Amino acid sequence: MLARLTLGCVLAGSLLLSACAEDTSVDPPPAPEAEPIEEEAPEEAPEASALIRPLDDSGVEGLITFQTTNGGVQVTYALAGLTPGAHGFHVHENGDCDPGDDGTPGGAAGGHFAPQEDPHGAPSAEAGQRHVGDFGNIEAGADGRASGTFVDALIAFEGDNSIIDRAVVVHAEADDLESQPSGNAGARVGCGVVRSMASMQQNLPPGHPPIN
Ligand code: CU
Ligand code: ZN
Repeated sequence: MLARLTLGCVLAGSLLLSACAEDTSVDPPPAPEAEPIEEEAPEEAPEASALIRPLDDSGVEGLITFQTTNGGVQVTYALAGLTPGAHGFHVHENGDCDPGDDGTPGGAAGGHFAPQEDPHGAPSAEAGQRHVGDFGNIEAGADGRASGTFVDALIAFEGDNSIIDRAVVVHAEADDLESQPSGNAGARVGCGVVRSMASMQQNLPPGHPPIN
């Protein structure tokens, strides 16, 4: 009997001990080491941008920014309110998103920006085989959003190929990249005029801090 009790006490004791040991392991875990803040290179302010607004209550809106980079001008777009799928995307001749004389939404923007009067084509086509304004297509997901970036070798911020004060137009349908004169991309559903940041600084109301 005594032996049993002793054994029982030892067992209980060891259980207690192990319980105690477990207890110590329940201490709050050490705070995770603070993640080092990733230092991103400060993004250079874009040189130009176009605020896209809906045409004919399409609901299409977004922002396009332009920045000189290696090999041309980097175009970064973020749009919403599109139908899923591909949409023609071009720089048009005039910086005007008003209806055309015939009432066509966005018609005042005119045709594709084509200072050398080249044929319509794919953005990958050589100079001379595409309009300067031919950006091809952007692809909207099921949520109606389209975003991405590409580099265009032809557009510029000055000279014959300058896109400043011209309109960027988003279309209802896909640009087939070959039909003349504009890829058969359907109605104009979004439009915004490319403004240089320099001109935007000049147009700020008095006392407004400069835009970076
Ligand atoms: Cu267009
Ligand atoms: Zn074109």
